[in-house]
Amino acid sequence: MILEARGLTYGYPGAADPALAGIDFEVAEGEVFGFLGPNGSGKSTTQNVLTRVLPTYEGQVQCFGESLAQQGQAYANRIGVQFEFPNLYEKLTAHENLDFYRRLFDVPTDTPADLLERLDLPRDDARPVGQYSKGMKMRVVLARSLVNRPQLWFLDEPTSGQDPEHAKAIRRLVRERAEAGTTVFLTTHDMTVADVLCDRVAFLVEGRIEVIDTPRNLKLAHRDARARVETREGDALVAHEFALDDDAGKAAFLACVRDHDVETIHTLEPSLEDVFLRVTGRGLDG
Ligand SMILES: Nc1ncnc2c1ncn2[C@@H]1O[C@H](COP(=O)(O)OP(=O)(O)OP(=O)(O)O)[C@@H](O)[C@H]1O
Ligand SMILES: [Mg+2]
Repeated sequence: MILEARGLTYGYPGAADPALAGIDFEVAEGEVFGFLGPNGSGKSTTQNVLTRVLPTYEGQVQCFGESLAQQGQAYANRIGVQFEFPNLYEKLTAHENLDFYRRLFDVPTDTPADLLERLDLPRDDARPVGQYSKGMKMRVVLARSLVNRPQLWFLDEPTSGQDPEHAKAIRRLVRERAEAGTTVFLTTHDMTVADVLCDRVAFLVEGRIEVIDTPRNLKLAHRDARARVETREGDALVAHEFALDDDAGKAAFLACVRDHDVETIHTLEPSLEDVFLRVTGRGLDG
């Protein structure tokens, strides 16, 4: 396991309730592990503990087989971190930001211009990043998080603020890196991102993990087994829905298919968002 947490607990100073109330999970090498939950559920707190931004915590956390508390510069060299806010040097260019950052590592680094280009940013722009749009700044942060060729890549809402084209390109980049062996710890409340990118997802609510499984298993376990049939009746299309988990529903479905001119048949699968709602009793928007 690349990451292993047991009873991970974190309380912000002065807060009445802990932000993380004893969570357990493990992440295997090469896996894309999604951490999903509504606003304030503790996703970023978890990332900040795992990346040692928040150094005090209770419980056991092992990274690369060693206790997180004992990790030093070698750990910094092995991880890439994209924060949820664009924490860049606003007066420097994108290239200068990456150049500055790469000096913090004592492992081989990637060429900033190549990384910028990979994220659809100009290779050598004279403008300071303070003049970039929010989406562009976030892509600079993403490029920066790859400078040290991380083995373990932390992403906190990587597609937030991106237009559909750029969001798609970022999803593709994450998949590519994962296929090349990078382990990804991905925090999001975007169920589409989670569904298409993650090998497994954890549902986090109020600092507790409710369930961990593959998106496919979660959707299958919460399936309604319903079918929707559209039939042609003269010029009109008529929709019918059938429950497939009882005999009467099955018989009605078969009769419909036999007796009508069928245009489409679909089984109705819940989305990951529907599953989240059922498992946790609440939506992802808080
Ligand atoms: N710096 C801080 N000081 C005190 N409390 C904090 C701090 N940062 C977060 N919290 C609290 O900890 C809890 C978890 O916050 P966290 O930022 O981890 O949530 P999140 O799941 O990342 O939410 P979002 O989807 O909004 O990014 C919340 O109750 C929040 O108010
Ligand atoms: Mg957050």
